[in-house]
Amino acid sequence: MQELNYDRQLILNHISSHEIELVGSVADEIGRECYVVGGYVRDIFLGRTSKDVDFVTVGSGIEVAERVERRLRHATLAVFRNFGTAQVKWRGMELEFVGARKESYSHDSRNPIVEDGTLDDDQRRRDFTINAMAICINRDRFGELLDPFNGISDLNNRLIRTPLDPDITFSDDPLRMMRAIRFATQLNFEIFPETFSAIERNRERISIISKERITDELMKIMKADVPSRGFVLLDRCRLLELIFPELAALKGVETVNGRGHKDNFAHTLQVLDNVAAKSDNVWLRWAALLHDIAKPATKRYDEKLGWTVHNHNFIGEKMVPRIFKRMRLPMNEKLKYVAKLVGLHMRPIALVEDVVTDSAVRRMLFDAGDDIDDLMLLCAADITSKNREKVRRFKENYDLVRQKLVELEEKDRIRNFQPPVSGEEIMATFGLPPCSDVGKIKEAIKNAILDGKVANDHDEARRFMLEVAAGMGLKPVADAEQG
Ligand code: CTP
Repeated sequence: MQELNYDRQLILNHISSHEIELVGSVADEIGRECYVVGGYVRDIFLGRTSKDVDFVTVGSGIEVAERVERRLRHATLAVFRNFGTAQVKWRGMELEFVGARKESYSHDSRNPIVEDGTLDDDQRRRDFTINAMAICINRDRFGELLDPFNGISDLNNRLIRTPLDPDITFSDDPLRMMRAIRFATQLNFEIFPETFSAIERNRERISIISKERITDELMKIMKADVPSRGFVLLDRCRLLELIFPELAALKGVETVNGRGHKDNFAHTLQVLDNVAAKSDNVWLRWAALLHDIAKPATKRYDEKLGWTVHNHNFIGEKMVPRIFKRMRLPMNEKLKYVAKLVGLHMRPIALVEDVVTDSAVRRMLFDAGDDIDDLMLLCAADITSKNREKVRRFKENYDLVRQKLVELEEKDRIRNFQPPVSGEEIMATFGLPPCSDVGKIKEAIKNAILDGKVANDHDEARRFMLEVAAGMGLKPVADAEQG
């Protein structure tokens, strides 16, 4: 084995905790080899601390877990006999126990055929070299690192590589193809060339993995510092067209009569990274990823206008629920938020390009509500032009819109607009049952406020209501009775 370059003291610092030492001594009592493995070990070397610790014992892990639970005050134990695993929760930590296993997978399912094995068997069946390291915690070998696949050297060289022939590792569990790309994205690592070409070869096998598990990985990619890295890799190995065809369809540039449009995939990824640099809100990041999703469907070439994508924002807004449903993303207010931002993403830009009128700014504020700041952030991120003059003009007007937003919000409180005159008041005033006239009057009041003709205030709005109603031939009940 190659000489390892790692800091032994670093290992000891991390594993010299009450709970890990206790697990080691319990394992000693019943004569069982015991190791800390997987992500916890990797994260020691990456300088990250984790609340989840995976332990592997040679022989059953359940008995060790049961004894550990009895010795830790206020710990809770869950045993999953069918899987041969157990979990102890204690002071916010999750200690997972499993016996070392030898696994092979049947070809058409993820359900492994499991047999007892040695530590070495267990390490071989793991996904990547950086996740296949183990540290012994038995007293006489406390802190000994077992790194049969040179995970340390791959960590130093920032490489994602499978411990075995990648065709075997990926065919055992095709989700690992997504995990490889996810780790490369999160850690800013490269995928080893042979590992990457195996992903290209095995990509169709992703079809046996549940949508939920694929989406879990996509979410982790979306939360990374530079999420575009993941999508570039997904595209390069052609997994993207299998798991996210709408996004893959953004790729490429078409040219008619010598006129091309910009590559919407590259643009989208740039917008996504721009948003990610400013916000951790993963749903705002989703809005960035999907903002131009309807461009392929709406793209037309016109002799006079060149390339157009009319209504791509509205069509995109309609596509979002279908995409969320298929990907098992939440069909709740998160979906509504993303769809709304996709639908509105052109609004600030249109404002910025035109003369900025108060009325248009008020309407945008009304439509965006509390999401106005996110919409403005998305809009700024959407400017990826290389033309400096264009960007300068945009910035100037963008700042003007921002300033107006603040002024108008202070003055008119449009953000969470509540009609100053309610439907009930309109009905009572004119003795009307619920009917379309009530809606028309309400709408007229709202428009007058948004257009700045009437202040957002009850008395002014009521005066305006009487005017509008008179124009519709309606009289207040009191007047009607007098007349
Ligand atoms: N593992 C694997 N194949 C998978 C999933 C997990 O071999 N499809 C192994 C890896 O050794 C991994 C360990 O199980 O390190 C624990 O998996 P998990 O908790 O999912 O991931 P972590 O590596 O801990 O990373 P993260 O917490 O970022 O998901």
